[in-house]
Amino acid sequence: PTRVFSGIQPSGGMHLGNYLGAIRKFVDLQHEYDCHFCVVNMHAITVWQDPQKLLEQTMHIAAAYLAAGVDPEKAVVFHQSGVRAHAELAWILNCVARIGWVNRMTQFKDKAGKDAERASVGLYTYPVLMAADILAYKATHVPVGEDQKQHLELARDVAAKFNHDYDKPDFFPQPEPLIKGQFGETGARIMSLRDGTMKMSKSNPSENSCIYLTDDTDLIAKKIKKAKSDPEPLPTETGGLEDRPEAKNLVGIYATLSGKSVAEVLSEFGGQGFGVFKPALAELVVEKISPISAEMRRLEGDPAFLQGILRKGAERASEVTEPILKEVKETVGYLV
Ligand code: TYM
Repeated sequence: PTRVFSGIQPSGGMHLGNYLGAIRKFVDLQHEYDCHFCVVNMHAITVWQDPQKLLEQTMHIAAAYLAAGVDPEKAVVFHQSGVRAHAELAWILNCVARIGWVNRMTQFKDKAGKDAERASVGLYTYPVLMAADILAYKATHVPVGEDQKQHLELARDVAAKFNHDYDKPDFFPQPEPLIKGQFGETGARIMSLRDGTMKMSKSNPSENSCIYLTDDTDLIAKKIKKAKSDPEPLPTETGGLEDRPEAKNLVGIYATLSGKSVAEVLSEFGGQGFGVFKPALAELVVEKISPISAEMRRLEGDPAFLQGILRKGAERASEVTEPILKEVKETVGYLV
């Protein structure tokens, strides 16, 4: 059976990369599969979070899930800290994962920066907690953006080693990343608007690099107008986007949001300059995003409602994880 798990950190605003790389896939998957979408607040505190802001951001992510179309009656929507299996399994899996595997994680190197000695221990074992998130549900499929691929590989290695060490070959399934959405490559990796070789990210220092779901029409138009581009007109063939990372990214965003292929977008805009393309892109982004941000604002005005959704989701999630956790504990020889 197919079981889906994914999570988003409540550590900053939701941006277009999170939406296209993750949430939009969640909305598609919930109709067919048994889905669990988590607000990973335990992951968020691997770097300092102001407590009040952490709570607000938790509601912000929950609001984004619902506003984008995740139905909490279908998918289980909950907060990570509300389900004890995440923390308990993480400890056991910390004892299965090898230091050498964790040392290879490029995201730790990026996030810890130059002075890794001062990073939290939690940031270091972050990918093992992520493996626990997935394996606590015996999830088979994990919709994520491309930046999470390496973490998924670690989760697969941890699952295989647990199965091997405890001689239970079929205990944990090998979770598959779902990186391409229904529109293929585009969306898997949305790049910064200021540098087509860096991913769009809330930690990017340039404020114009990232479109947040809460940006208003004027701000979106301004950011797209200022987006880095080049003086050439758009090519008519997809091959013409190679070596033009900024053009490729903007066309990719257009394609993903409109549900068209890159070839179709180029057949419409090929030969035209960015003076024509950028306003069309801004209009499309606003058209797709403003209903979501309006609904997010409405939902965030009622935190008690969102809290209720998360708490109820945590109960439903625990019904899935408790039997798995019990079996894991028995397997390793804990008294249960
Ligand atoms: P996070 O919170 O950084 O990002 C949430 C989701 O958004 C995707 N994403 C992007 N996709 C395309 N282009 C971009 N520029 C872009 N930026 C972010 C991410 O790939 C992710 O899918 N470790 C995870 C959260 C996590 C998780 C899990 C995910 C914790 N446990 C278990 C799946 C399963 C993270 O930090 O995502």
